[in-house]
Amino acid sequence: MSHHASILFVCLGNICRSPIAQGICEAELRKRQLIHRMQVDSCGTSHYHIGHAPDPRAIQAMKAHGYDISPQRARQLQLSDYAQYTYIVAMDRTHLHTIEQHKPVHFKGHIHLLRNFDPSDNGLDVPDPYYNNNFEHVFAIIERGVHGLLAHMCSHLSGNG
Ligand code: 4NP
Repeated sequence: MSHHASILFVCLGNICRSPIAQGICEAELRKRQLIHRMQVDSCGTSHYHIGHAPDPRAIQAMKAHGYDISPQRARQLQLSDYAQYTYIVAMDRTHLHTIEQHKPVHFKGHIHLLRNFDPSDNGLDVPDPYYNNNFEHVFAIIERGVHGLLAHMCSHLSGNG
């Protein structure tokens, strides 16, 4: 995989879904010894939780699967992200819309919905666990999506560095 590849996961608050995606992705890249060649981060479209740690329920759900996302801190999507990241990956359509809306004309990267890479229920939104409290369900969806995304990136980027 190219060392220029970088991934930004985006949700609304950056305290539930995108921190889970970031945590799973970083662990997978570490396992594949690609972590030092990739940049991975997450952010929210809203300002609601800037500076906050992930939701305690997200931390707990991830801890149950062996991941520690407690050091993450929420931030908001910013214009410089479009220059920094080659893959900007939205958890649902509302985030996808916001990302597209603010996209500079010269952006050369890729904007995707996470579940475009989920083999089951392809193309759906990742449901919002903040009010639904379905963190285990959401974890399984995000895990499939992240694995699918990395498989996609490897197949597209392998062979050219
Ligand atoms: P997230 O979940 O977008 O997955 O981080 C939410 C977090 C906060 C809110 C909604 C969803 N909120 O309304 O504050």
